[in-house]
Amino acid sequence: NADDGYRLWLKYDLIRDAAKRTTYAQSAQFIALTGNSPILQTAANELQTGLQGLLGKTIPIIANAGNRTGGIVLTLRNTPDAGAGTLNDEGYQIEQRSNIQISAKTDRGVLYGVFALLRYVQTGQSLHRITLTSNPKVRYRLLNHWDNTNGTIERGYAGESLWKWFELPATVDSRYRDYARANASLGINGTVVNNVNASARFMTDEYIEKVAALANVFRNYGIRLYLSIYFPAPKTIGGLKTADPLEPEVKKWWADKTKAIYKAIPDFGGFLVKANSEGEPGPQDYGRTHADGANMLAEALAPYDGVVMWRAFVYKADPKADRFKAAYEEFVPLDGKFNKKVIIQVKNGPIDFQPREPFSPIFGNMPQTPLSMEFQITQEYMGFATHTVFEAPLFKECLDSDTFVKGKGSTVAKVVDGSLHGYNVTAMAGVANTGSDRNWTGNPMAQANWYAFGRLAWDHTLSAEAIAREWVTMSLTSEPKSVQTIINMLLKSRDIYVAYNTPLGLSRPWTGAHFAPEPWQNRSSRPDWTAIYYHRADSAGLGFDRTTTGSNALAQYRPEVQQQWNNVETCPLPYLLWFHHVPWTKKLTNGRTLWDELCVHFYSGADSVRWMQQQWVQVKPAVDPAIFADVAGRLSTQYKEAIWWRDAWVLYLQPFARQPIPAPFKKPD
Ligand code: GCU
Repeated sequence: NADDGYRLWLKYDLIRDAAKRTTYAQSAQFIALTGNSPILQTAANELQTGLQGLLGKTIPIIANAGNRTGGIVLTLRNTPDAGAGTLNDEGYQIEQRSNIQISAKTDRGVLYGVFALLRYVQTGQSLHRITLTSNPKVRYRLLNHWDNTNGTIERGYAGESLWKWFELPATVDSRYRDYARANASLGINGTVVNNVNASARFMTDEYIEKVAALANVFRNYGIRLYLSIYFPAPKTIGGLKTADPLEPEVKKWWADKTKAIYKAIPDFGGFLVKANSEGEPGPQDYGRTHADGANMLAEALAPYDGVVMWRAFVYKADPKADRFKAAYEEFVPLDGKFNKKVIIQVKNGPIDFQPREPFSPIFGNMPQTPLSMEFQITQEYMGFATHTVFEAPLFKECLDSDTFVKGKGSTVAKVVDGSLHGYNVTAMAGVANTGSDRNWTGNPMAQANWYAFGRLAWDHTLSAEAIAREWVTMSLTSEPKSVQTIINMLLKSRDIYVAYNTPLGLSRPWTGAHFAPEPWQNRSSRPDWTAIYYHRADSAGLGFDRTTTGSNALAQYRPEVQQQWNNVETCPLPYLLWFHHVPWTKKLTNGRTLWDELCVHFYSGADSVRWMQQQWVQVKPAVDPAIFADVAGRLSTQYKEAIWWRDAWVLYLQPFARQPIPAPFKKPD
């Protein structure tokens, strides 16, 4: 009866220790539900289902606790009493007095409180005198699906789209609900169901009806549905001659379309837009700005509670320009020009979801505009669904980066959560790694990345280790030694990947598929889609000079940040080649030459995958056999591919460097 990974972190297997079960059961003799709404009903049902599995008994749901004690009471507190004052709209409070009270201002808050309580039990914590208040730090917490009408997923590595467009709306797959509960358990409250490279078909009546059927399922879990739009839709499906955002007929088309969407989906969340980016049309085609385009959509949404998420992922096909600078150059001058319903969605780094990037210089530099963080959960540049790369350390590294825009401590997280500039419209989006594979993410370990994104969108102060601990305990095993071994593996996995893939600040050694090593790739339809554009290897050295002698992209950061990176003698090694063209024989801060240091990373990176394999073997007795075998297989492929990466880089760079491979590495594998 092997586990196929379908249940994710919501396994709810019977707690083996009977004494522990009894203790929990004493505090969970009934579930009292006061108030009634579909989401509250969901909350009570989820609690009942979870406890049924964990405790092995059915806990009755009753309408009112009356004088009874020893149960769990779910309540809405719409009156602003002392306790509720510390809660925001989706926060919850859990307290044990004579009963365990889970209370919140909204039904969604109660639902999140229920999942928090279950997480407590799943991770073996005591409920005795539990007292816990938690508020999400960010208001819109979304997954972005890059899913197409034909069922494919752009950059998806776990099968086909979850959405069965050919069957919808009449047939509603039960998996949509399972998807919703997994997200709700993390506090994710919105989902964009279609690709940012959007088909105009999502604006047709045919598709609005299909997505409305999905929204009907998601609603009971507090999840709102959003759509990516194709900017010229008024032309392509509306029959207009233009999509110019300042034309009255275009405005009217979008207003009417928005009205039709809200008729079908009353809690529709809004639009996500990729415009004038990578060939996608947009307002600039009509001599208009991003602000003109975004504001036109915001006006269409004015009568409703919806927002526009306009992406800042733009760059031009100019071989002389530095792509690093492009988004800042286009967007920062527009600060203050956006309608208040507009959020600018910024990728974590200035290029494109690389295994390690400095934070985007846009963060902190648009104080009048809410900025949303866009992370990529799907492993487009991180070995697809084969390589084990736990992303929480990457997410944290960016969120904890200091922009210094209002002095020390002005972290990216404080920009995103609105506290630095006082935005109240705040958002975080994660490009999903889910698909039709039974285990949702292809690699069972990649479930941890979905989990980590959701937890950090709720609370960016959680540590990567705490998140790993929760996920491992709920998803794989609670045997303490194995838990520790897997956490250790996960926490090191991203640096291991970086070491054999893009060490010392290298980036983007790929062609279009973004999978195999191709640092030599020098031809493409666009100069900035070659690998050599990024690493700049030549006989003098390696790396992209972004200081004053080069593109001076560093000038987009505050002086304190520039100081960290602009001196080749002191720049931290993980960022070195992001900012400097470094001679091959230059002695680095640790005494090694650049060439030797690169070799150390490539070789030890590949060796470390071996180490991960050895760690994984040790946990075999503690994890499900099917999951064990699945991950073991992927790790062995990862090892093969890490060697492939190592050798490709070393053999490609060596003729430039004209240096021998350092002696310790010259042994056969
Ligand atoms: C990357 C990715 C594309 C995607 C784009 C985006 O470049 O490779 O597939 O469309 O990002 O985020 O818009």
